[in-house]
Amino acid sequence: MSNQNQRVFDIMLNRRSMRQFLDKPISDEVLEKILKAGFQAPFAAQLCSIIYTRDSEKITELQKIGAYPTTQVLMLFLIDLRRIEKIMTKRGHSYDADDAFTLWLGVQDASLVAENVILAAEALGLGSVFLGAIPHFAEPLAELFNIPDRVFPMVGLCLGYPDPAEHTEIRPRYPLEFSAYKDVYHDHSDEDILSCMKAMDEGYLAQNYYIKRSAKIPLRKGKDTIDYDTYSWCEHISRKLCQGGWAKHPLLATLEKQGFTFKIKPKK
Ligand SMILES: Cc1cc2nc3c(=O)[nH]c(=O)nc-3n(C[C@H](O)[C@H](O)[C@H](O)COP(=O)(O)O)c2cc1C
Repeated sequence: MSNQNQRVFDIMLNRRSMRQFLDKPISDEVLEKILKAGFQAPFAAQLCSIIYTRDSEKITELQKIGAYPTTQVLMLFLIDLRRIEKIMTKRGHSYDADDAFTLWLGVQDASLVAENVILAAEALGLGSVFLGAIPHFAEPLAELFNIPDRVFPMVGLCLGYPDPAEHTEIRPRYPLEFSAYKDVYHDHSDEDILSCMKAMDEGYLAQNYYIKRSAKIPLRKGKDTIDYDTYSWCEHISRKLCQGGWAKHPLLATLEKQGFTFKIKPKK
């Protein structure tokens, strides 16, 4: 493999989320390069836009929804149906489809742009971490960033030059054979699931991941009998998904407030 190609793999395989950044500005030139690489991602219908800000007041405001205080640039990846609808109008077409599918295309487009952005940022010596709670806060974000109807913030991203004081390690993943299947879907046996769990739990425990961050999610119901010597990724993600605060911010209602409509109900 050429050195150049090896570098692409190194960037992808060594990337890890960074949450602490140096007080070093990101120049316009660097930002533009990253954004250009981002939008060169494959697209279904160019349904992604980005808002980026260096405004410290806005970044401070976003700390309420997870932004890290040392973030130099904060990006919002938007699913943007508004722009394409203006183009369609110019072409004499009106949009009367159900939004579920265009939303889906928007998620696909925005995800690919977002991944290109983080890899381009890595290549230029920057680090980043996504902010996943963003969609639940679409309403206040719309206010803060003038986001109109038919545009929806899918995910956020904190960017900056990584602080070398932050000790990060490459986080484990499921073993490949349990994620990539040849020819047909592989429905996991109990034994497979235990292997997946072992790989993830032992990997995170070996890095003391949760104890270092005091990141245990408190158990809402019942007595918590798990301590940090066994609390690991499988327990963490289960608690996050099954007792997360999502119910407080139902996503469909938030999408509807932002002007998205879901008219076609599945046939019974
Ligand atoms: C869509 C998405 C949302 C995320 N949201 C957050 C977040 O709100 N806060 C955070 O600290 N990390 C967040 N992350 C980072 C993940 O925790 C991280 O990618 C995962 O633990 C794997 O670690 P790695 O990126 O270092 O490989 C998010 C990642 C993704 C892809």
